[in-house]
Amino acid sequence: MQVKRFGVSLEEELQQELDRLVSKHQFPNRSQAIRFLIKKYSVEDEWIENREVAGAIVLVYDHHKRELQTKSTDIQHDYHHLILSVQHVHLDHHNCLETIAVKGKANELKDLANQLIAIKGVMHGELVMTAKK
Ligand code: NI
Repeated sequence: MQVKRFGVSLEEELQQELDRLVSKHQFPNRSQAIRFLIKKYSVEDEWIENREVAGAIVLVYDHHKRELQTKSTDIQHDYHHLILSVQHVHLDHHNCLETIAVKGKANELKDLANQLIAIKGVMHGELVMTAKK
C-alpha cells in the first residue's frame, strides 16, 4: 500500500498528549499511533452507521444452569447467518467462556449480543466491535 506523507499542526499540549499515548501504548512512532486512532474512530463510525462489520461476543456463564444453554442455542440459531464460529472453553468445574465470532450489519450484531448477554445466569458478556477490514 502506498504511504503518503502530510503535515499535521498541533498545539504543544496536544502533541505532548500524543507522545504520552505513543509511550503508554508502546506505539513505535507517532504515525502508528495516528493510524490506530483514525481506524478506531472509523470503526466506531461504521458501527454507528449500521454498516457491515465484524466482531466477537464473549460470554462467561455457569453451564450447570441448564436452561441457559438451551436459550443460548435457540438465540444463536435465530441469528445463524451472522455467526462465523463458536469457541467454548471450560474455565473450571462450573464456568465456561464462549467466544462467538460474528459478521453482519452492526445493528443485528448488537441485537444478538444484547439477547445473549441478557440471558439469566450469564455472569459477564461483552461485544467487541471491530471492522471487516
Ligand atoms: Ni464448558
